[in-house]
Amino acid sequence: MNDSLVITTGIRSRKNLEEKALELSREWKIPYQPREKYSLDFIREMTGASTILLVSHQKLSLVTNGKEFFFHPGLAKLRIKELQAGKTDQMIKAMDLQEGDSLLDCTLGLAADALVASYVVGTKGIIVGLEDAAPVAHIIARGLRSYTGEKPELINAMRRIQVVNQHHLHYLRNLPSNTFDVVYFDPMFRVPKVKSSSMAPLRDLANSSPLSIEAVAEAVRVARKRVVMKENRESQEFQRLNFQLIQGGRYSPVAYGVIKGGVLK
Ligand SMILES: C[S@@+](CC[C@H](N)C(=O)[O-])C[C@H]1O[C@@H](n2cnc3c(N)ncnc32)[C@H](O)[C@@H]1O
Repeated sequence: MNDSLVITTGIRSRKNLEEKALELSREWKIPYQPREKYSLDFIREMTGASTILLVSHQKLSLVTNGKEFFFHPGLAKLRIKELQAGKTDQMIKAMDLQEGDSLLDCTLGLAADALVASYVVGTKGIIVGLEDAAPVAHIIARGLRSYTGEKPELINAMRRIQVVNQHHLHYLRNLPSNTFDVVYFDPMFRVPKVKSSSMAPLRDLANSSPLSIEAVAEAVRVARKRVVMKENRESQEFQRLNFQLIQGGRYSPVAYGVIKGGVLK
């Protein structure tokens, strides 16, 4: 992950955005650079930062290598629509996730999976999402808290996700056994899917380390029902990490590995 960040505003109405940018700069301890009329490339050059946290009227985004990263419920929205139409979501099936369940998402990323899960567990459920990359955690936490303009069930599912900026191994080690029904991992694929454009901006910012055997062992201790991992269908990771049952759509390039946790072992 790249940590050199600077915060600035969009060019239009920058005077009105400066206060917000300064507030975030203080809260997240990221240096603030007044935008003036500089291009983002020039700001990057001038400050030596590789990533810019851009405050504009519509959203907060991270700009890195010419790619822009921001929270958007797009993918999850489609999946939730399909669930409402009675279709099967392979991730939910692999998790055997039920209304009222608790889920620890150890690799929150863009929070698409967490959002679908949050919709399924409903108001009585619990969703905690861990994200190791601080800029990603900031942007997603803010987006989940403030995104508007969608149906109430989607907005409420966003608001229920608790975001924690922490490495999952550290978080898991400090949890008592059997704390969550399901623990979920969706690490950056060892071999990236070429077509996954939603993941492209994340790739420069994310923690791309392989999932550790130790984290999986902790997850098995913490999960009452299941530990689930998403990976490329052909990935050797399922074997390396001892995931037993592989589920996924017949034609899907991704698959889900499952390990039965605490009470089901
Ligand atoms: C493939 S993305 C997850 C995508 C997510 N499932 C979604 O639906 O948007 C993987 C994310 O996990 C994060 N990550 C990787 N290792 C982590 C760790 N040890 N602890 C917490 N987060 C981690 C990465 O920074 C990245 O944002």
